[in-house]
Amino acid sequence: KRKKMTVPAFTAAKGGKPLVCLTAYTAHVAHIVDEQADMILVGDSLGMVIHGMPNTLGVTMEHMIMHGQAVMRGAEKALVVVDMPFGSFEESPEVAFRNAARLIKETGCTAVKLEGGREMAPTIRHLTNRGIPVMAHVGLMPQQMNTAGGFKAVREKDQFDEVVKDAQAVEEAGAFSVVVEGVAVRLANKITKSVGIPTIGIGASVECDGQILVFEDMIGLFPRVPTFVKRYGNMEEMMRDAVERYSSEVRARKFPSDDYTYKMKTD
Ligand code: KIV
Ligand code: NA
Repeated sequence: KRKKMTVPAFTAAKGGKPLVCLTAYTAHVAHIVDEQADMILVGDSLGMVIHGMPNTLGVTMEHMIMHGQAVMRGAEKALVVVDMPFGSFEESPEVAFRNAARLIKETGCTAVKLEGGREMAPTIRHLTNRGIPVMAHVGLMPQQMNTAGGFKAVREKDQFDEVVKDAQAVEEAGAFSVVVEGVAVRLANKITKSVGIPTIGIGASVECDGQILVFEDMIGLFPRVPTFVKRYGNMEEMMRDAVERYSSEVRARKFPSDDYTYKMKTD
């Protein structure tokens, strides 16, 4: 039987067996993912895959808390990390602490994740010194989409040093792990060799210490996915098929048949 994953155990897994991570936004999905995953992320991608937003910028603390609570009811063994949404941590370390503490207190999760490299190092230090484990997130940062002009992978050689410095800065600031998103294989390799904390890749090759994908993307339940997403299921097709068969049976008065009907009590 697997033991409950802790922050120190997660960090100690650096360089060993790859860490398995997935997102979950509901209790039932968390329960299923928990059977395998070392870490479950309640990511702000929930704005897109659950709430139909065009990007993650509109996600609020309330969204994160509500889905964090649902996931905590389904997860037992995996480390649960909740994303800090855009606008909840950038202003100052103090504001970040207040909001991170809210996520911990109101959901019961163990750690938070926030996007940013060197510029967020003082905030990461402030949180980790005060009892809040932080997972960092470097490379492609979806919350920076307006300044970047879209979701842009890091593939130019002259961008590599900056991202390596970001990863080193977040480690130095006390982050227990770092998500590396949308970077070339070579850069993923460089980052992973340059830090002593586990790198968790998404669109960042097999060079990372672990992998994460958005659950809805990998089970085929979200139509627009980046090229790095491998589909391990086709849930959309299954759901559409179920809705079609139900609809035609209702229209044909075939459902509900006898088996699905209450009979009058006779006793
Ligand atoms: O919000 C999210 O899903 C993420 C990822 C790392 C997958 O931040
Ligand atoms: Na995120």
